[in-house]
Amino acid sequence: MAERRKLRMGLVGGGPGAFIGPVHRIAAELDGRCELVAGAFSQSAERSRAAGAAFGIDPARAYASYGEMIEAERKRNDGIDFVVITTPNHLHLPIALAAMKAGIPVMSDKPATATYTEALELEKAVRGSGLPYGLTHTYAGYAMVREARAMCAAGKLGALRKVAVEYLQGWLSRPLETAGHKQAEWRSDPARNGPGGAIGDIGTHAFHLLEYISGLKVTAINATLRTVVPWRKLDDDCNAFVRMNNGAAGTLACSQVAAGELNEMRVRIYGETGSIEWRQQDPNRLIVKWLDGPEEIHHAAAGYLGRDALAVARVPAGHPEGYLEAFAVLYREFADALLEWKKGNPQPLPATLPGIEAGVRGMRFIERVIESNRIAGWVEF
Ligand SMILES: NC(=O)c1ccc[n+]([C@@H]2O[C@H](COP(=O)([O-])OP(=O)(O)OC[C@H]3O[C@@H](n4cnc5c(N)ncnc54)[C@H](O)[C@@H]3O)[C@@H](O)[C@H]2O)c1
Repeated sequence: MAERRKLRMGLVGGGPGAFIGPVHRIAAELDGRCELVAGAFSQSAERSRAAGAAFGIDPARAYASYGEMIEAERKRNDGIDFVVITTPNHLHLPIALAAMKAGIPVMSDKPATATYTEALELEKAVRGSGLPYGLTHTYAGYAMVREARAMCAAGKLGALRKVAVEYLQGWLSRPLETAGHKQAEWRSDPARNGPGGAIGDIGTHAFHLLEYISGLKVTAINATLRTVVPWRKLDDDCNAFVRMNNGAAGTLACSQVAAGELNEMRVRIYGETGSIEWRQQDPNRLIVKWLDGPEEIHHAAAGYLGRDALAVARVPAGHPEGYLEAFAVLYREFADALLEWKKGNPQPLPATLPGIEAGVRGMRFIERVIESNRIAGWVEF
């Protein structure tokens, strides 16, 4: 049984008006494994202090920069146990490297870095340091994603033949980046975002979920990228064909100009005798279709689910869990792994928790899609 002291987290990003930083705080604290004690919440010292006050942490631990936070926390007896990265993408690598140099484990939001080259550098640092590194591909934390993954692994659908994943949003249908929209602004700037627009922001999630659920690996891609909104500097729409390592094939689409869509991620996997379908906006249900039987709906937390799905359920079936809880599943696994690591287990991260391998593959996905679009044809992964 793992020791249950709360792990102390230091958050980078998550300042006033930020999207995902506050989500990390809620998710990390949900299961009582972690607590926010420090942060460099903004690049402005004043805004970092304001965020620290809003989060209710010791004002002395709301730092002006991540460098200052790491330096000061490293010297404290009650210093942070891990750093959480929730800034725009170009800062992911420098923050992770600074934390690891100080011997502090990292939980980072995706994409792992801004470029594929950076991802290789990060991989080297993670493997060289032996420090736990988690990557919050949020959707891996849903119970019904775990159930779908277990069904594929157990061969319940027979050999997998066809895959279809799509992640469609509409919020960038207008040029919000020219209208002072905080999240749109840096996402449309190659210097802060990296070279992949929609493919980096949400395509990496779709790609990860496809491999995560199916247990297969993408071996080749043929992708078309478009920039639909005039003057935008990065892609906002992508359609791709994929080949998988077992001979299966299918499609991957992502878009941020699919007007009217909110966060429509859908994965379908077809085997010889049946298929599964999971939608992020209806996450507590997994649709299972059989070649020789009726369609079924499997419900989160129901007693008939497999061990992996039940392990992440917190409340009885019919009491919906959602985005925050899925995020919290990743934090629970990360915290348990961190405690194991502190006890001397060198490889504590469970296979269910995305880590550096997923991070590198996600960045490779962006790089390969851009190359495929450039040559207008298939590229090996
Ligand atoms: N896992 C998910 O589902 C998910 C969802 C949204 C965003 N993300 C990822 O999270 C990251 C942040 O996205 P967001 O939408 O929250 O962006 P955001 O613009 O809402 O927030 C970014 C935060 O970083 C802060 N920041 C910028 N430079 C900083 C610095 N030098 N030091 C400290 N803080 C600094 C900003 O002040 C802001 O508070 C991105 O990498 C994005 O891809 C992941």
